[in-house]
Amino acid sequence: MQSVKITPESLAVMKAAGRRIPALTTYDYPMTRMLDEAGVPFLLVGDSLGMVVLGHPNTTLVTLEDMEHHVRAAARAKPTALLAADLPYHSYETPEQALASARRLCVAGAEAVKAEGGREILPQVMAIRGAGIPFVGHLGMLPQHVLEEGGYRIKGRDEVQRQALLADARALEEAGAMALVLELVTPPVAAEISRSLRIPTIGIGSGPDCDGQILVVSDLIGTFPWFTPKFARRRMEGAALMQGVVREWMAEIVG
Ligand code: KIV
Repeated sequence: MQSVKITPESLAVMKAAGRRIPALTTYDYPMTRMLDEAGVPFLLVGDSLGMVVLGHPNTTLVTLEDMEHHVRAAARAKPTALLAADLPYHSYETPEQALASARRLCVAGAEAVKAEGGREILPQVMAIRGAGIPFVGHLGMLPQHVLEEGGYRIKGRDEVQRQALLADARALEEAGAMALVLELVTPPVAAEISRSLRIPTIGIGSGPDCDGQILVVSDLIGTFPWFTPKFARRRMEGAALMQGVVREWMAEIVG
Protein backbone atom coordinates (compact mmCIF):
# COMPACT_ATOMS: atom_id res chain seq x y z
CA MET A 1 0.00 0.00 0.00
CA GLN A 2 1.20 3.54 -0.72
CA SER A 3 1.66 5.58 2.46
CA VAL A 4 0.09 8.72 1.01
CA LYS A 5 -3.37 8.93 -0.59
CA ILE A 6 -3.15 9.02 -4.39
CA THR A 7 -4.94 11.96 -5.99
CA PRO A 8 -5.28 13.14 -9.59
CA GLU A 9 -2.33 15.45 -8.86
CA SER A 10 -0.19 12.45 -7.77
CA LEU A 11 -0.67 10.92 -11.22
CA ALA A 12 0.28 14.22 -12.90
CA VAL A 13 3.42 14.34 -10.73
CA MET A 14 4.28 10.77 -11.74
CA LYS A 15 4.06 11.72 -15.42
CA ALA A 16 6.12 14.87 -14.90
CA ALA A 17 8.77 12.81 -13.09
CA GLY A 18 8.81 10.21 -15.87
CA ARG A 19 7.43 7.50 -13.54
CA ARG A 20 5.14 4.95 -15.21
CA ILE A 21 1.62 4.53 -13.80
CA PRO A 22 0.39 0.95 -13.28
CA ALA A 23 -3.40 0.63 -13.17
CA LEU A 24 -5.84 -2.25 -12.85
CA THR A 25 -9.57 -2.73 -12.84
CA THR A 26 -11.25 -3.82 -9.63
CA TYR A 27 -14.80 -4.86 -8.89
CA ASP A 28 -15.26 -5.62 -5.20
CA TYR A 29 -13.94 -5.23 -1.66
CA PRO A 30 -11.36 -8.05 -1.41
CA MET A 31 -9.90 -7.39 -4.87
CA THR A 32 -9.62 -3.67 -4.16
CA ARG A 33 -7.96 -4.34 -0.80
CA MET A 34 -5.49 -6.84 -2.29
CA LEU A 35 -4.55 -4.58 -5.21
CA ASP A 36 -4.22 -1.59 -2.92
CA GLU A 37 -2.04 -3.52 -0.49
CA ALA A 38 0.10 -4.54 -3.52
CA GLY A 39 0.66 -0.83 -4.18
CA VAL A 40 -1.29 -0.25 -7.42
CA PRO A 41 -1.77 3.55 -7.49
CA PHE A 42 -4.76 3.74 -9.84
CA LEU A 43 -7.79 1.43 -9.63
CA LEU A 44 -10.79 1.54 -11.93
CA VAL A 45 -14.18 -0.02 -11.30
CA GLY A 46 -14.51 -0.67 -15.02
CA ASP A 47 -17.74 -1.46 -16.79
CA SER A 48 -15.80 -4.50 -18.03
CA LEU A 49 -17.44 -5.95 -14.92
CA GLY A 50 -20.41 -6.56 -17.22
CA MET A 51 -18.39 -9.28 -18.94
CA VAL A 52 -15.93 -10.61 -16.35
CA VAL A 53 -18.24 -10.47 -13.30
CA LEU A 54 -21.84 -10.34 -14.52
CA GLY A 55 -21.52 -12.65 -17.53
CA HIS A 56 -22.87 -10.30 -20.19
CA PRO A 57 -21.50 -10.59 -23.76
CA ASN A 58 -20.25 -6.98 -23.73
CA THR A 59 -20.38 -3.80 -21.63
CA THR A 60 -23.48 -2.28 -23.20
CA LEU A 61 -25.87 -3.95 -20.74
CA VAL A 62 -24.20 -2.57 -17.61
CA THR A 63 -26.44 -0.18 -15.68
CA LEU A 64 -25.67 2.73 -13.41
CA GLU A 65 -27.13 0.65 -10.56
CA ASP A 66 -24.65 -2.17 -11.35
CA MET A 67 -21.81 0.35 -11.25
CA GLU A 68 -22.99 1.90 -7.98
CA HIS A 69 -23.22 -1.54 -6.37
CA HIS A 70 -19.63 -2.47 -7.31
CA VAL A 71 -18.20 0.99 -6.58
CA ARG A 72 -19.70 0.82 -3.07
CA ALA A 73 -18.05 -2.55 -2.49
CA ALA A 74 -14.67 -1.39 -3.82
CA ALA A 75 -14.81 1.87 -1.86
CA ARG A 76 -15.36 -0.02 1.41
CA ALA A 77 -11.70 -1.07 1.07
CA LYS A 78 -10.81 2.63 1.54
CA PRO A 79 -7.92 2.32 -0.91
CA THR A 80 -4.90 4.58 -0.82
CA ALA A 81 -5.04 4.22 -4.60
CA LEU A 82 -7.16 6.64 -6.59
CA LEU A 83 -10.50 4.89 -7.17
CA ALA A 84 -12.16 5.78 -10.49
CA ALA A 85 -15.37 4.35 -11.94
CA ASP A 86 -16.86 4.02 -15.41
CA LEU A 87 -19.99 5.86 -16.41
CA PRO A 88 -21.90 3.04 -18.14
CA TYR A 89 -23.42 3.18 -21.61
CA HIS A 90 -26.40 5.55 -21.94
CA SER A 91 -25.69 7.20 -18.57
CA TYR A 92 -24.09 10.36 -20.07
CA GLU A 93 -26.19 11.22 -23.11
CA THR A 94 -26.67 14.88 -22.07
CA PRO A 95 -24.61 17.17 -19.81
CA GLU A 96 -27.36 17.04 -17.16
CA GLN A 97 -27.54 13.25 -17.21
CA ALA A 98 -23.73 12.95 -17.20
CA LEU A 99 -23.45 15.15 -14.11
CA ALA A 100 -26.27 13.36 -12.29
CA SER A 101 -24.71 9.95 -13.07
CA ALA A 102 -21.22 11.11 -12.08
CA ARG A 103 -22.59 12.43 -8.78
CA ARG A 104 -24.23 9.05 -8.06
CA LEU A 105 -20.92 7.25 -8.63
CA CYS A 106 -19.16 9.74 -6.35
CA VAL A 107 -21.78 9.21 -3.62
CA ALA A 108 -21.08 5.47 -4.02
CA GLY A 109 -17.38 6.17 -3.39
CA ALA A 110 -15.73 6.95 -6.74
CA GLU A 111 -13.06 9.63 -6.68
CA ALA A 112 -13.07 10.14 -10.45
CA VAL A 113 -15.32 9.06 -13.31
CA LYS A 114 -14.45 7.85 -16.79
CA ALA A 115 -16.49 8.05 -19.98
CA GLU A 116 -15.83 6.94 -23.54
CA GLY A 117 -15.54 9.44 -26.38
CA GLY A 118 -13.86 12.62 -27.55
CA ARG A 119 -15.14 15.95 -28.85
CA GLU A 120 -18.71 14.61 -29.11
CA ILE A 121 -18.95 14.35 -25.29
CA LEU A 122 -17.21 17.64 -24.43
CA PRO A 123 -20.39 19.30 -23.03
CA GLN A 124 -20.78 16.29 -20.71
CA VAL A 125 -17.11 16.47 -19.66
CA MET A 126 -17.44 20.19 -18.96
CA ALA A 127 -20.55 19.64 -16.84
CA ILE A 128 -18.70 16.99 -14.79
CA ARG A 129 -15.56 19.13 -14.43
CA GLY A 130 -17.66 22.20 -13.68
CA ALA A 131 -18.92 20.39 -10.59
CA GLY A 132 -15.33 19.66 -9.54
CA ILE A 133 -15.48 15.93 -10.26
CA PRO A 134 -12.19 14.53 -11.63
CA PHE A 135 -12.66 13.07 -15.11
CA VAL A 136 -10.73 10.40 -17.03
CA GLY A 137 -11.15 10.25 -20.81
CA HIS A 138 -11.20 7.08 -22.93
CA LEU A 139 -10.25 7.13 -26.62
CA GLY A 140 -9.41 4.58 -29.29
CA MET A 141 -11.48 1.43 -29.32
CA LEU A 142 -14.61 2.23 -27.32
CA PRO A 143 -16.13 -0.98 -25.92
CA GLN A 144 -19.53 0.68 -25.34
CA HIS A 145 -19.76 1.16 -29.14
CA VAL A 146 -18.88 -2.42 -30.06
CA LEU A 147 -22.31 -3.13 -31.53
CA GLU A 148 -22.35 -0.03 -33.78
CA GLU A 149 -18.73 -0.70 -34.84
CA GLY A 150 -19.29 -4.43 -35.40
CA GLY A 151 -16.29 -5.52 -33.31
CA TYR A 152 -13.24 -4.41 -31.35
CA ARG A 153 -11.09 -2.58 -33.91
CA ILE A 154 -7.63 -1.01 -33.59
CA LYS A 155 -7.68 2.80 -34.00
CA GLY A 156 -5.09 5.18 -35.47
CA ARG A 157 -4.31 3.10 -38.54
CA ASP A 158 -4.70 5.93 -41.06
CA GLU A 159 -4.03 9.67 -41.12
CA VAL A 160 -7.71 10.60 -40.67
CA GLN A 161 -7.95 8.48 -37.49
CA ARG A 162 -4.58 9.78 -36.22
CA GLN A 163 -5.68 13.41 -36.62
CA ALA A 164 -9.06 12.69 -35.00
CA LEU A 165 -7.47 10.95 -32.00
CA LEU A 166 -5.00 13.81 -31.49
CA ALA A 167 -7.77 16.41 -31.72
CA ASP A 168 -9.97 14.45 -29.29
CA ALA A 169 -7.09 13.98 -26.85
CA ARG A 170 -6.24 17.70 -26.87
CA ALA A 171 -9.90 18.67 -26.48
CA LEU A 172 -10.32 16.37 -23.45
CA GLU A 173 -7.16 17.77 -21.85
CA GLU A 174 -8.40 21.29 -22.52
CA ALA A 175 -11.77 20.44 -20.93
CA GLY A 176 -9.98 19.41 -17.74
CA ALA A 177 -9.56 15.62 -17.98
CA MET A 178 -7.01 14.38 -15.42
CA ALA A 179 -5.90 11.36 -17.49
CA LEU A 180 -6.71 9.58 -20.72
CA VAL A 181 -7.14 5.86 -21.33
CA LEU A 182 -6.00 4.86 -24.83
CA GLU A 183 -7.45 1.49 -25.80
CA LEU A 184 -6.22 -0.41 -28.87
CA VAL A 185 -4.56 2.65 -30.41
CA THR A 186 -1.62 1.92 -32.72
CA PRO A 187 1.59 2.27 -30.69
CA PRO A 188 3.09 5.18 -32.73
CA VAL A 189 -0.12 7.23 -32.40
CA ALA A 190 -0.43 6.39 -28.68
CA ALA A 191 3.20 7.51 -28.22
CA GLU A 192 2.52 10.75 -30.11
CA ILE A 193 -0.57 11.52 -28.01
CA SER A 194 1.37 10.74 -24.81
CA ARG A 195 4.16 13.14 -25.82
CA SER A 196 1.77 15.91 -26.78
CA LEU A 197 -0.34 15.95 -23.58
CA ARG A 198 0.54 17.18 -20.10
CA ILE A 199 -1.95 14.77 -18.51
CA PRO A 200 -0.98 11.08 -18.27
CA THR A 201 -2.10 8.56 -20.85
CA ILE A 202 -2.92 5.06 -19.61
CA GLY A 203 -2.66 2.51 -22.39
CA ILE A 204 -4.39 -0.82 -22.88
CA GLY A 205 -3.21 -2.73 -25.93
CA SER A 206 -1.66 0.53 -27.21
CA GLY A 207 2.07 -0.22 -27.01
CA PRO A 208 4.75 0.51 -24.42
CA ASP A 209 5.03 4.28 -24.75
CA CYS A 210 1.97 5.45 -22.83
CA ASP A 211 2.56 7.06 -19.42
CA GLY A 212 0.85 4.14 -17.70
CA GLN A 213 -0.68 0.77 -18.46
CA ILE A 214 -4.04 -0.65 -17.40
CA LEU A 215 -5.37 -4.19 -17.61
CA VAL A 216 -8.61 -5.90 -16.74
CA VAL A 217 -7.44 -7.64 -13.56
CA SER A 218 -9.05 -10.95 -14.57
CA ASP A 219 -6.87 -11.01 -17.72
CA LEU A 220 -3.75 -10.63 -15.58
CA ILE A 221 -4.57 -13.31 -13.02
CA GLY A 222 -6.56 -15.74 -15.15
CA THR A 223 -9.88 -15.62 -13.33
CA PHE A 224 -11.86 -15.22 -16.58
CA PRO A 225 -10.10 -17.93 -18.60
CA TRP A 226 -12.67 -18.17 -21.38
CA PHE A 227 -11.37 -15.07 -23.14
CA THR A 228 -8.09 -13.18 -22.85
CA PRO A 229 -7.25 -10.37 -25.29
CA LYS A 230 -4.10 -10.90 -27.39
CA PHE A 231 -2.21 -8.00 -25.79
CA ALA A 232 -2.71 -9.25 -22.20
CA ARG A 233 -0.18 -11.73 -20.81
CA ARG A 234 -1.83 -13.92 -18.19
CA ARG A 235 0.61 -14.14 -15.26
CA MET A 236 -1.34 -16.51 -13.05
CA GLU A 237 -3.65 -19.39 -13.90
CA GLY A 238 -6.23 -18.24 -11.35
CA ALA A 239 -9.06 -20.45 -12.59
CA ALA A 240 -6.90 -23.59 -12.84
CA LEU A 241 -5.37 -22.98 -9.37
CA MET A 242 -8.80 -22.55 -7.83
CA GLN A 243 -10.23 -25.60 -9.58
CA GLY A 244 -7.22 -27.65 -8.44
CA VAL A 245 -7.77 -26.71 -4.79
CA VAL A 246 -11.51 -27.37 -5.06
CA ARG A 247 -10.90 -30.82 -6.64
CA GLU A 248 -8.36 -31.66 -3.91
CA TRP A 249 -10.85 -30.67 -1.20
CA MET A 250 -13.65 -32.65 -2.88
CA ALA A 251 -11.42 -35.73 -3.12
CA GLU A 252 -10.76 -35.55 0.65
CA ILE A 253 -14.50 -35.47 1.32
CA VAL A 254 -15.52 -38.08 -1.21
CA GLY A 255 -12.49 -40.26 -0.40
O1 KIV B 1 -14.06 -1.16 -18.32
C1 KIV B 1 -12.83 -1.30 -18.26
O2 KIV B 1 -12.32 -2.26 -17.70
C2 KIV B 1 -12.01 -0.30 -18.93
C3 KIV B 1 -10.55 -0.60 -19.03
C4 KIV B 1 -10.34 -1.64 -20.05
C5 KIV B 1 -9.75 0.60 -19.29
O3 KIV B 1 -12.50 0.68 -19.38
